[in-house]
Amino acid sequence: MMAKDIAYIGVNDHEIDLFEGQYVVPLGMAYNSYVILDRKIAVIDTVDARFGEEWLKNLTDQLAGRKPDYLIVQHMEPDHSANIFRFLDAYPDVTVVASAKAFQMMKNFYGSDLSDRSRVIAAEKSVLNLGTHTLTFFSAPMVHWPEVIFTWDETAHTLFSADAFGKFGALDAEDPEGWACEARRYYFGIVGKYGPQVQAVMKKLTDLPIETICPLHGPVLNEDLGYYLNLYRIWSTYGVESEGVVINYTSVYGHTKAAAEKLAELLKARGCPKVVLNDLARCDMPEAVEDTFRYGKVVLATTTYNADIFPFMRTFIDHLTERNWQKKTVGLIENGTWAPMAVKGMKSMLEGCKELNFLEPAVRITSALNAESEAQLTALADALMA
Ligand code: FEO
Repeated sequence: MMAKDIAYIGVNDHEIDLFEGQYVVPLGMAYNSYVILDRKIAVIDTVDARFGEEWLKNLTDQLAGRKPDYLIVQHMEPDHSANIFRFLDAYPDVTVVASAKAFQMMKNFYGSDLSDRSRVIAAEKSVLNLGTHTLTFFSAPMVHWPEVIFTWDETAHTLFSADAFGKFGALDAEDPEGWACEARRYYFGIVGKYGPQVQAVMKKLTDLPIETICPLHGPVLNEDLGYYLNLYRIWSTYGVESEGVVINYTSVYGHTKAAAEKLAELLKARGCPKVVLNDLARCDMPEAVEDTFRYGKVVLATTTYNADIFPFMRTFIDHLTERNWQKKTVGLIENGTWAPMAVKGMKSMLEGCKELNFLEPAVRITSALNAESEAQLTALADALMA
């Protein structure tokens, strides 16, 4: 799975209710950590606060009586940094390696930037030699925080990629949907906004002969790496990953839902390769967000509410715009019994998004579908399939 002198010492979390305070994780979560056992020993990142004891035991089991020399802190978010000081209590002679920003964050989170003890600032392309293994550090700002570094082990052809290439799900839970589904939901939820920054760090990796990727969440990747790198290329450039149409709707009494379902039927009848329907009030919204980045064609259907948009649609569009959603073909459907305003409201929320192609005219339902609005739906289905 990994080079013989690199060991996995991470933990699985099946207790967490919401990862990062907002994401449901039905398969749990893994907080990965690694140790490189060379003439010098380097530990890469710690784990969530609740698993300090288990993690330290995993480490001790690998050390076989030896002591670590370095702790490399790639990312300061507490799911990885929470046990730094517990670790330093156990191994006070360790040198901590991190970016300058990470040391500042250590002071903010834990009250010390370690300036009174041994530490090394990992500058861009600085090198740490462990004996056989030579490590090179790359800054990876905003993947996912500004202090992040990636660690390249030239000897083992292994990239330690911090949060990048991670996914939701504990490592002891079988994921029936494979890697991409929960990796995509994780990517767009967590770093979707920072596509250009992901591109910038991927450019730094272009010429490296990577054979293994060790992320801080999800499985170690060591086969068919082109598959994962290509998905990151598509995701970070806001490209179209899959052909099809996503219809995101809200509905109060079922009439807007009926329109969404009718449109889905019309699309299927026209041979649309995939139609995804999301009821935004009832689905997992991050799942709807990932669909809406995945496909190139998107329909938003909602009710006029307080002379604006139904709340779940407003929240959903906020999720899109704050993540730099762009480069899509968009169809809009509004419903309004006396003064339909939802299209105006949705367009106004989306006006800062780059390269959206709005299909005209938008569909207007006045309470319930009728011949006129059904004809508009048919025109929308034709336009989406053109
Ligand atoms: Fe897994 Fe950004 O922390």
